[in-house]
Amino acid sequence: MSTRLKLVSALPTLPEAVLEVQGLSKIFRVNQTTFHALEDISFQAGTGELICVLGPSGCGKSTLLKILSGFIPPSAGQITLNDLPVSRPGPDRCVVFQEDALFPWLTVAENIAFGLKGRGLSSQLMRQETERFLSLVNLEAFCDYLPREISGGMKQRVALARVLILNPKVLLMDEPFAALDAQTREEMQNFLLTLWKKLSHTILFVTHDVTEAVTLADRILVMEKNPGRIRHDITVILKRPRMRETDAFHHHCKHLYAMLRTEKAG
Ligand SMILES: Nc1ncnc2c1ncn2[C@@H]1O[C@H](COP(=O)(O)OP(=O)(O)OP(=O)(O)O)[C@@H](O)[C@H]1O
Ligand SMILES: [Mg+2]
Repeated sequence: MSTRLKLVSALPTLPEAVLEVQGLSKIFRVNQTTFHALEDISFQAGTGELICVLGPSGCGKSTLLKILSGFIPPSAGQITLNDLPVSRPGPDRCVVFQEDALFPWLTVAENIAFGLKGRGLSSQLMRQETERFLSLVNLEAFCDYLPREISGGMKQRVALARVLILNPKVLLMDEPFAALDAQTREEMQNFLLTLWKKLSHTILFVTHDVTEAVTLADRILVMEKNPGRIRHDITVILKRPRMRETDAFHHHCKHLYAMLRTEKAG
């Protein structure tokens, strides 16, 4: 037994696989024609990994996230989360979209607290949790504001808080910062990294922005289209915090641009 333990501890510590996707395909049928949106997608995501899915418009990134969240079924393949099959939406997998539809008639605090309703928590615990997540996204001062009274970046922080409060195992993000201006977008990327360091969720982050992917990811799944497939699975070896103006950062970006261009030409 002791020998075995020694052997195990001598191995590099690989993150335990939380999410396993095996042979996933999606065929859409529209007006009697079939379209292979995704073909034979397989990958694993480990505990606390931040994986970016990068690819051109139409390569099936959103379709992949919709299947992983359980909103639409795959045509073939399996998904498991901690060895349990995924087939419908659940609080263990939460999604943040590009322009998250907050409830316009609820305040910031009420939007964040919304998902806790019906979970049998006391009102005191609900209040405590809401305050904790308001503070985590630095919005305590705006708790009574309505969504129309806050900025785009703040809205996305509310959107993040209201899914993080549910304590999901996997956070699925579909171009969540794409509608923001360049500076706010960079601030939100840094903000997400700070949150991720604190909470260590497994994150699957969809983007078609190379700089965003290199800023955020441990790994980048590079997709190609027609049909949507994973062409490369790249580990980003840059140390954190990543400085966007360094040669090493630019080198990573150039490498990825070249890959995306090859996909297009092919
Ligand atoms: N419900 C649907 N019915 C038919 N075809 C669909 C459906 N949803 C998506 N598609 C098709 O599947 C392909 C992939 O779409 P998807 O939205 O997943 O791409 P994407 O990579 O997210 O693109 P973008 O970067 O523009 O958001 C597209 O060609 C799209 O037209
Ligand atoms: Mg999309």
